[in-house]
Amino acid sequence: MMSAGPEPETAALAALLRFYADIGVDAVVGETAPDHFNAPPSRDTPREMPREREPVRENITPLLRPQPLQVARSAAPGLDLAGITSLAALRAAMEAFDGCALKATATQLVFADGNPEAKIMLVGEAPGGDEDRQGLPFVGRAGQLLDLMLAAIGLDRTSVYITNIIAWRPPGNRTPTPAEIQSCLPFVTRHIEIINPDVMVCLGNVSVQTLLKTREGITRARGQWFDYPLPGRSLRALAMLHPAFLLRSPAFKRQAWADLQALRAMLDRT
Ligand code: URA
Repeated sequence: MMSAGPEPETAALAALLRFYADIGVDAVVGETAPDHFNAPPSRDTPREMPREREPVRENITPLLRPQPLQVARSAAPGLDLAGITSLAALRAAMEAFDGCALKATATQLVFADGNPEAKIMLVGEAPGGDEDRQGLPFVGRAGQLLDLMLAAIGLDRTSVYITNIIAWRPPGNRTPTPAEIQSCLPFVTRHIEIINPDVMVCLGNVSVQTLLKTREGITRARGQWFDYPLPGRSLRALAMLHPAFLLRSPAFKRQAWADLQALRAMLDRT
């Protein structure tokens, strides 16, 4: 007997799921509508009276004990991460950190991928849906393009190290807010210091403007080399177009190719 293909009902459900994905609905939140009028206050419900101290959670380092909520949300740059000298400790500190609201909606922390001994470190923006599910950066369509771009200059995930400015997925893949970026910045700067690469690549506007302190948009900044300050030295850092942008605007691939060749040349010199 010939296979009849999917049952009509299955095909209709698949089409519906595709439609939901296309319009940005990518998470199931529940079958029944929540009754917000009778729900107990959530952790994000504003408190009427500010509490003097948040309860101190056990099993987190004293360094990262939560500040009063308002302070923790806005003043994460005050975190002192200087005592954190290993990737494992940095990851544990991020797992324990509650100062970035994105953590509440993300599935998990997306820390890094690749070779911590690599000469080159890439910093993207924030995880998307695939990264959020798998817990690794750049594993979705943009990541596949990034792998092709790296392969074009003889690199792969054994010869680069990859992380993001933000470690938790913004809902619907929206651009992270300045407050979210600030709350995660101490972690990414410490991450760069621990990896201590020879060359850094900032992928896309958020990474370029945050780390390279430029106000130029990415289409002007791309291809430029910057000096990123590390303790005792500065690091050569290249601004590059984000692969997700290249998926949407393939005409820019020529510029991306020029930047990749500049990167290859810099790696060959260092
Ligand atoms: N875009 C990013 O900037 N980072 C990822 O990890 C995935 C997509």
